[in-house]
Amino acid sequence: MIRAFDALSLPLLRWIDAEDAHRLAIHGLKFLPPIKLRADDAKLAVRAFGLNFPNPVGMAAGFDKNAEVPDALLRLGFGFVEIGTVTPKPQSGNPRPRLFRLERDEAVVNRMGFNNDGADAVLRRLASRAQLPGIVGVNVGANKDSSDRVSDYVTLIETFAPVASYFTVNVSSPNTPGLRNLQQGHILDDLLSKVLEARDRARAKAGDTPVLLKIAPDLSLAELDEVVHVARSRRVAGMIVANTTVARPTTLREASRAKEQGGLSGRPLFRLSTRMVAETYVRVEGAFPLIGVGGIDTGGAALTKIRAGASLVQLYSPLVYKGLGLVEDIKNDLALTLLRTGREQLSEIVGADAAAITAEDWPI
Ligand SMILES: Cc1cc2nc3c(=O)[nH]c(=O)nc-3n(C[C@H](O)[C@H](O)[C@H](O)COP(=O)(O)O)c2cc1C
Repeated sequence: MIRAFDALSLPLLRWIDAEDAHRLAIHGLKFLPPIKLRADDAKLAVRAFGLNFPNPVGMAAGFDKNAEVPDALLRLGFGFVEIGTVTPKPQSGNPRPRLFRLERDEAVVNRMGFNNDGADAVLRRLASRAQLPGIVGVNVGANKDSSDRVSDYVTLIETFAPVASYFTVNVSSPNTPGLRNLQQGHILDDLLSKVLEARDRARAKAGDTPVLLKIAPDLSLAELDEVVHVARSRRVAGMIVANTTVARPTTLREASRAKEQGGLSGRPLFRLSTRMVAETYVRVEGAFPLIGVGGIDTGGAALTKIRAGASLVQLYSPLVYKGLGLVEDIKNDLALTLLRTGREQLSEIVGADAAAITAEDWPI
C-alpha cells in the first residue's frame, strides 16, 4: 500500500513546486485510511528519556509543523513523530519561494522561517488526540518579532506540557535571525534553567515531560564543549543532533540552487551530522541519549548514525526522494542486522564507532 502510494505520488510530487508538494502530502495523509501496519519487531524497541519507543525511526520536526497528521505518520510506521517548530503566535514565515529541491544531490535547502499556526491552534489539535497512543514530541521556538525569546519558550512549555510526550528546545534553526545565538553557553544556561523550571511547574498536571535540546551541525568543537557542558549540568533528557547546515559542501552538483539562502539537509548533510553525533556522544559520556538526524536515506545510514552514538534517529528530506517506504526499509534493515549479529537490541551498538569516527578527517 505504501509502496503503491510512493510509486504514484513521488514522480508527480517532484514535478510541482516543493512547498505545494509538501502541502499535498499533508492533505493526502489526512485522508490515509486507518490501515494497521504489522507490529514492529520487539528487538527494535528502544527505551529513552523515560519513554518506550516501538522502533527508533522518527519523523523529524518541520514536516508536520502544525500537528495536522501525527497519527497518520504513526500509522505509517514511524516510532515517534516530532511536530513543530511551534511558536507562541502564528507567523507566516519568509516569503515564497523558500523551499528548494536539489535533485541531483538528493538534498533540500529551506528558509521557511518557522511558518506555523501558533500555539493555540496546534494545542487544540494535540488536545483532540491526547488519549491516542503514540509518542508525539513538541518542538518549540521563538517568534521572529519576539522581544523576549526566553519567555516564548517558557510559555510554550507551560502550554504544551499536558499533551507533549517530550519537548525539543530548538535553538538551531538558521532561518530566524539570531536564534542560534541561544546556543552560547551563558545564554543557553539561562534558557534551559527557565525552561526546566517551567517544566517542573507543570509537573502536577503533566508529569516529568522530558526536555531535549536540538543543536546545529555548524557548531565548532569548542562551542560543542560548552553546549554539552550546559546540557549536562542542567540535566536535559537528551539532545538532537542536528538541524540543517548553513555550510555548502563543494561537492554539491545543483550549484545555483545551492546558493539559495537557508539550511541544507538530506544526503550532503549525512557526514557532517554523523560526525557531530559522534563528537556529542563522546562528550556526553552516557549522561543522556541522543537522537541522530541528517541525511539518513538507507538502513545502512541509520546503522552508521546509531553506531556513531544515536539511540534513535529521525528523517525528513530523504523521504522526498525515497518516499515513505523508506521507514519500513530502515526498520527491516536494522532488524536484520540485529538478527545476523546475534544481538538482542540496538542499545548494544549505540556509540560503538563514536571514538573511531572522531579520529577521522573532518568531513567537508
Ligand atoms: C523543509 C524543512 C523544514 C524544517 N523545519 C524545521 C523546524 O521547524 N524545526 C526544526 O527543529 N527542524 C526543522 N527542519 C530540520 C529537520 O528536522 C532536520 O533536522 C534536518 O532537515 C536534517 O534531517 P534530514 O536530512 O533528514 O532532512 C526542517 C527541515 C526541512 C527540510
